[in-house]
Amino acid sequence: MASLFTFLPIILLALICLRLLANWRKLSKAPGPTFAGCSDLWRAYQQCKGRLREKILDLHAQHGPIVRYGVKSISISDPEIIAIVYGSRAGFVTADSYKVLVGIQNGKEVPSLVSTADETRHGALRRSVANAFTPTAVLDYEKWIDATIEELLITVSKKKTFDLSSMTLWYTMDAAGRFAFGEPLGCLQVEGDVGDSIQLVRDRFNHWGWWSSLPQLEKLLYRNPISIRQSRTPSRMAAKALAKLKERTGESKDNTGYTDLLQRFLEASKDHPQLDTPGIIGMLMSTISGAGDTTASTVVAVIFNLMKNPESLKKLEDELLQANLPAIPEFAQVSKLPYLNAVVKEGMRLFTVSTWPMERLVPAGGVTIVGMFFPEGTTVGCLPLAVHHNSKVFGEDAHIYRPERWLTSDREQLRQMEAAHMGFSRGRRNCMGQNIAVLQMKKVIPALLMKFKLSLSDPEASLEADYSPAVAYLKPLYVTSQPKR
Ligand code: HEM
Repeated sequence: MASLFTFLPIILLALICLRLLANWRKLSKAPGPTFAGCSDLWRAYQQCKGRLREKILDLHAQHGPIVRYGVKSISISDPEIIAIVYGSRAGFVTADSYKVLVGIQNGKEVPSLVSTADETRHGALRRSVANAFTPTAVLDYEKWIDATIEELLITVSKKKTFDLSSMTLWYTMDAAGRFAFGEPLGCLQVEGDVGDSIQLVRDRFNHWGWWSSLPQLEKLLYRNPISIRQSRTPSRMAAKALAKLKERTGESKDNTGYTDLLQRFLEASKDHPQLDTPGIIGMLMSTISGAGDTTASTVVAVIFNLMKNPESLKKLEDELLQANLPAIPEFAQVSKLPYLNAVVKEGMRLFTVSTWPMERLVPAGGVTIVGMFFPEGTTVGCLPLAVHHNSKVFGEDAHIYRPERWLTSDREQLRQMEAAHMGFSRGRRNCMGQNIAVLQMKKVIPALLMKFKLSLSDPEASLEADYSPAVAYLKPLYVTSQPKR
């Protein structure tokens, strides 16, 4: 008996070691840290520390286009992955890391557009609202963007120094409230979060980021029969959206005059039964959540790069001056400005919101990418920033800010760069709101730069972000502003 107790820990340790070794052997041909191949605790730790993205970039720099960062997780930085995994070929469903984002309502799991792994459901949901996001449809929301830019300009004009990251986030959240259901959240007015709307969105992205590596453990802790039944109060944002929906469906008069997503979704609900009340509210919440930090960080990244590169800023200012624009330009006036287009593309190339690869599961039969075979069940994906650093596509200076690459490259290289730009992802699950995002960015950036001379309060400041959530959040970036006109 005594000998069994003596040997039990040794036996347990040996079993654990065998399990770790078996894990490692599964994809041992792919280079990466040994411990990452043995246990997902490695990637979980790096993600929680906000370092996984940096580690994956370093691994690519060291080992090339294929690296391993988890037991079943492979990051590929060669653009070849884009057509194979994210393209139209069916079968590459979202990996388990998306499951931890699935919401819980009344004791049941309710997957959203982003978190559903069911491709049929995803396709049907996307088709049901697709008309609300086309390049033409989003022009309907321009007036909401204009109203929010006007408020932003007034707020900034009262400041000499301010945190550009927070200011831009208040702007994008208010704009999202307006184009989603016709009312701002009120963040710019109070210069802060209203009703914890921003915090609640971030709580979800934090949860997604922190648990993405350990979905089974997340399920055990948060989706067990006891936790799943805990009542959850709807957010202030959801309550507001619901009130708006009830107001409109209860109206006896013709209510077709509204031009926002809610109205579009209500119209679509006539042909799409999945757009019932919870379906519409869910879509509105997904949209607002997807629109806030993403657009804000990208706008700040574009302006940051311009402040750091005065020649680029001067070129853009000259272009805007020549275009003879009003204080808040119309999208039609700015959508095709070449230098503006180049600084937005380049800003998005060097700052991407995804903090780990957008993971997909290899279907039955396996797949060969960049000459390596991956069996069914492997998680493959690309970290947009890693692809954007690919020198074969973006040139030897891929790590450097140079908007001119979008203007002077030959046709073939430009085609390759466009195809490898993953800022909005690609394929069936690409960013649904990208037309709105581009419309906003191409209006708000000129509006700010035409009215104010913005400079970094600390000229040495770098663009810092928390990379532990699923979507990177920028840390405060203080700027000094002087009115121009
Ligand atoms: C510059 C700003 C933005 C960036 C960089 C961005 C980036 C992305 C990326 C990379 C994805 C794919 C995520 C994944 O597969 O894991 C995505 C999906 C999505 N985005 Fe955006 N986004 C931006 C703005 C917006 C805006 C303004 C909206 C809404 C108006 C929006 C709504 C969505 C939605 C609903 C999805 C999920 C699509 C699906 O799963 O089918 N995004 N976005």
